[in-house]
Amino acid sequence: MITANTRLLGVFGNPVSQSLSPLIHNAAIARAGFDAVYLAFKTESANQATESIRAMGMAGANITIPFKVSIINSMDKLHVTARQIGAVNTIVNNKGILTGYNTDASGAIMALKQRTKIKGKHAVVLGAGGAARAVTYGLIQEGAMVTVANRTVSRAKALARHFSCDFVPLARAGSLAADILINTTSVGMGTNKAPIKLRHRYDVVFDIVYKPKTTELLRQAARKGAATIPGLDMLVYQAAESFRLWFGKEPDVRLMKAVAARHSQ
Ligand SMILES: NC(=O)c1ccc[n+]([C@@H]2O[C@H](COP(=O)([O-])OP(=O)(O)OC[C@H]3O[C@@H](n4cnc5c(N)ncnc54)[C@H](OP(=O)(O)O)[C@@H]3O)[C@@H](O)[C@H]2O)c1
Repeated sequence: MITANTRLLGVFGNPVSQSLSPLIHNAAIARAGFDAVYLAFKTESANQATESIRAMGMAGANITIPFKVSIINSMDKLHVTARQIGAVNTIVNNKGILTGYNTDASGAIMALKQRTKIKGKHAVVLGAGGAARAVTYGLIQEGAMVTVANRTVSRAKALARHFSCDFVPLARAGSLAADILINTTSVGMGTNKAPIKLRHRYDVVFDIVYKPKTTELLRQAARKGAATIPGLDMLVYQAAESFRLWFGKEPDVRLMKAVAARHSQ
C-alpha cells in the first residue's frame, strides 16, 4: 500500500528500462512489510540524479551505467570502499547528507565465495571499466593475485597500476593459466557473443553479465568442466547489501534470487 509516509528509493541510469532492480527490491520490501517503494529513473547526468534524490527526499538510491564514477563528485560523504574503487552504486540519504557506497565489490565476492576459496588464487579479470575496478578491488582485499585483461590496453594498464597488479591484452586472456576467470566486460549482455575464446581450463568462471542467465562464455566454460557462476548471483548480492544499508535489516535473499531468475531471460 502506498501512503503519505511511503519511503521512496530508486535506480538512476541511462538507459535504465532494462534494470531488474525495481522487481528485486519491491519484492524484498513487500516481504519485509516496509512502507517503501523502489522505482527506475532515466537521468541525463549524475547531478540531475543527486538533485532529484534531495528534492524528492528519497531514502536512498542505486546508481548504474554510466554515472557510477561521475556521481562521486556530488556525494557529501564517501564510504572507504567507494573511495578506493572510485565508483558509487548505492547512496544513503541521511537527513539530506548523501553518502556513497559501493556494493558491487562485496556482491561479486559473495557470489564467488559460494563456489570457491579466493585467498591465494590467481584470477584473470576481463575488462577495465567500473565493474572491473570493483571486482579487482574485492579480489585483492580477499588475498587473490589478479591479472587484468582489456581490449583497450591503456585502460588495463591504468587499472593495473591503480591496484598494483598485472595486465595483458584481452586476446591473451583465454590461454592464461590461472584458477579463476571473471568477465566484467559488457560483451554477452543481450547477445550470444563471448568476449574471448576459452582455451585454458579454469576451475571457476564467473560472468557478471546477467542477461541471458547462461551466457556464451559460461557455456564454453561448462564444456571445459569449469564451475560456473552467473551474473544474477552478483546482482542479487549487491542488491541485498544496498537493502541492508537503507533499512538496516536482512532481506529475503532467496526471494530476490527467485525474482531475478524469473525475469532474466
Ligand atoms: N551482475 C551485476 O551485478 C553487475 C554489476 C555491475 C555491472 N554489471 C555488468 O557489467 C558490464 C560492465 O559494466 P561496467 O560498468 O564496467 O561498464 P563500462 O565501465 O562501460 O566498461 C565496459 C567494459 O567492457 C569492455 N567492452 C565493451 N565492449 C567490448 C567489446 N566489443 N569487446 C571487448 N571488450 C568490450 C570495455 O573495454 P574497452 O575499455 O576496451 O572499451 C570495458 O572494459 C555491464 O554489462 C553491466 O551491466 C553487472
